Amino acid sequence: MATWNELFSDERFIDQLPQPEVYKFVKKLEGVFPERPLILWDLCCGAGRHTVLLSRMGHQVYGSDAAINGISNTQKLLEDNLLKAELKVSDMTKFPFEKVKFHGVISWDALHHNTYANISSSVRLVHENLVDKGMFMLTLLSSKGGAYGQGTEIEKNTFVKDSGSETGVPHHYFDEKEVRTLFKGWKIVILAEQVYTYVETEPDFYMTNPFPYTKWNIIVQK
Ligand SMILES: C[S@@+](CC[C@H](N)C(=O)[O-])C[C@H]1O[C@@H](n2cnc3c(N)ncnc32)[C@H](O)[C@@H]1O
Repeated sequence: MATWNELFSDERFIDQLPQPEVYKFVKKLEGVFPERPLILWDLCCGAGRHTVLLSRMGHQVYGSDAAINGISNTQKLLEDNLLKAELKVSDMTKFPFEKVKFHGVISWDALHHNTYANISSSVRLVHENLVDKGMFMLTLLSSKGGAYGQGTEIEKNTFVKDSGSETGVPHHYFDEKEVRTLFKGWKIVILAEQVYTYVETEPDFYMTNPFPYTKWNIIVQK
């Protein structure tokens, strides 16, 4: 069974470039909050591409992930670029920092790697630790995605892959109703379903696929 820790020891599975959406989200936050630096959390930061971006943008950055190799890589990237962030190895259902409230939290392509109850706990933690009007940007897999149904269903809409690089990794797929339930009590700023239909592909195209997959792009506000 491949763990994220193992995946992060193989360069092929480390995304190097940050998503432009994350940069635009920070610009949006800078428009909402006049104070500087903003205090930002990269939740499930992986190998660190967004932690580095946020720090480079001049903000006070916190990053956490369950994979120790991801956190080590993030630390190295920060040091190589003479940047700083506070990093913790931590499960998404635990709050790893002390006495800090965030203007913004990002979690890119990560929270859906869990059961619904654990994803829900993580979202609650984010809400508790945002300042008033703080925003959360995240992506979640959509139930319209082509990989829906692959693997063993361990609860409704959560599948654990039986083969490939993500063997053993859970994936929860959301429909609109479930996304709205997850963010009950938040203000929805943007709820967008990005649907990608792969009409024809080579086998194993996903190993080097430059295009996105079908997912929810979400910005919510406390
Ligand atoms: C696809 S990667 C995305 C990483 C990063 N957000 C990025 O965009 O580069 C998913 C991340 O979720 C993390 N992850 C999976 N389950 C987790 C959990 N239960 N608690 C914390 N992190 C978890 C993995 O270790 C991995 O770093």
